[in-house]
Amino acid sequence: MKAIITGCSKGIGKEILRKLLNDGYEVMSISRSETNLDDLTNKDSTNWKEIIGNILDEDVHYKIINVLNEWKSLDILINNAGFLISKPFEELNYTEVKNSFDVNYYAPFKLSQICIPYLKNAEKASLINIGSIGGVQGSVKFPGLSAYSSSKGALAILTECLAEEYKDTSIHFNCLALGAVQTEMLEKAFPGYQAPFSPKQMAYYIINFIENSSEMMNGKIISVSASTP
Ligand SMILES: NC(=O)c1ccc[n+]([C@@H]2O[C@H](COP(=O)([O-])OP(=O)(O)OC[C@H]3O[C@@H](n4cnc5c(N)ncnc54)[C@H](OP(=O)(O)O)[C@@H]3O)[C@@H](O)[C@H]2O)c1
Repeated sequence: MKAIITGCSKGIGKEILRKLLNDGYEVMSISRSETNLDDLTNKDSTNWKEIIGNILDEDVHYKIINVLNEWKSLDILINNAGFLISKPFEELNYTEVKNSFDVNYYAPFKLSQICIPYLKNAEKASLINIGSIGGVQGSVKFPGLSAYSSSKGALAILTECLAEEYKDTSIHFNCLALGAVQTEMLEKAFPGYQAPFSPKQMAYYIINFIENSSEMMNGKIISVSASTP
């Protein structure tokens, strides 16, 4: 099985990458910083293609396409990389809003465009967008997170649109709208708050969902949250 995941240098993405590699998947990871996985139990490093760079850069897209052309088909795409800015609404500037939508919305949009032809070649494929509970209609909202949460809301709706547009293919598109997980991003949004889940726990949930449930759902925005925030 072949998988692509973005944002693996730390946090939830790093734990997803570690588990996929240990479970024998072939994985392409994309992060701006190098990922340190010294303690892998499965040391078959030929299974891992690491691309270091910004997921928004065209040269990174070409590197991804080169690997995909070797692979011919792709089973799983996990759009996990995220950017959070926590700032009062009236103080947000254009660059901060643009960064939020570039990383949280446009990067998954572009990677989906790149990967869908290869996902179509798999017998069954799963495209997972990692959203946020704040990007779900009717959820509790928090001051300072307007750019972040609205960009995740756009990502959730994109998931629904793609499921409809590609309903005649073998690809299932779902958005997991996560609640609090103990990572650097959470600490930035809610300093001092203790989340109920570790990155490893959430990574295991996400992989279990892909392997056992994503086939049963398409175009769904699934809240994965047990706390407020
Ligand atoms: N933690 C939570 O409580 C929580 C709650 C809801 C949703 N989420 C979502 O879950 C996902 C993972 O979050 P996390 O908490 O694990 O965050 P994190 O610890 O801050 O990690 C984010 C990852 O994304 C990568 N990244 C960011 N911008 C990138 C870019 N332009 N190009 C390539 N890689 C990029 C970062 O790597 P580099 O810095 O090396 O680029 C890092 O590996 C995100 O989509 C986040 O919005 C998290």
